[in-house]
Amino acid sequence: MNTIIESLNWRYATKQYDASKKISDQDLETLLEATRLSVSSYGLQPYKIINVQNPKLREELKAVAWNQTQITDASQLLVFAVEKNLGDKQIDAYMQNISETRGIPVENLDGFKGMIHNAIDGLEEHTKQEWAKKQAYIALSTLITTAALLKIDATPMEGFDAQAFDRILDLDAHGLATAVIAVIGYRHEEDAAQHYKKVRKSNQDLFINL
Ligand SMILES: Cc1cc2nc3c(=O)[nH]c(=O)nc-3n(C[C@H](O)[C@H](O)[C@H](O)COP(=O)(O)O)c2cc1C
Repeated sequence: MNTIIESLNWRYATKQYDASKKISDQDLETLLEATRLSVSSYGLQPYKIINVQNPKLREELKAVAWNQTQITDASQLLVFAVEKNLGDKQIDAYMQNISETRGIPVENLDGFKGMIHNAIDGLEEHTKQEWAKKQAYIALSTLITTAALLKIDATPMEGFDAQAFDRILDLDAHGLATAVIAVIGYRHEEDAAQHYKKVRKSNQDLFINL
């Protein structure tokens, strides 16, 4: 089996982490860089990723995440938070970034800028955030896959009270709202879930050939 498929079979949504094992700085850098390089619609990346390292905060967050022990025991907790009130601020910053990165006058991007405004401006705030969350989930997936390739364990998590996360992390003040979280680290040798057979739809059930 090739390495990618072997790694994707190796990974599982880890339930119990070995709290004594920490991800090296170099591996963390690779994981964050892969996540930064993730695709997003128009390339806007309408989210931020918060690396919560403070143990006290993580205890508080665990309490509003069904007491799932991964929150405190994994090496890192990453919170994917979407930007609220998407509009001029984020789009202008993106245009500036393209202009500087590619050495193009910012006015040359007016067509592209208009296209993004057209797509976003008419949406209700709730719909804008839902759209931004989809982008955050794609970044989450990049993180999970990259972790598997590095043989680092990861758990994507939705089992938490998002409003409580926002309050504990004071995200509202930063114009952010929690979308989804991930923990990464190393599985505990006693985590029974690592031995479960992977359950997936068969090719026949999943793929439609037309
Ligand atoms: C968006 C999302 C949210 C999830 N939330 C949780 C969670 O809160 N706690 C947990 O233990 N697993 C969570 N999972 C893991 C899934 O249950 C798991 O990926 C799925 O059952 C497939 O199993 P596998 O990842 O072990 O192959 C989540 C997965 C995704 C993609």
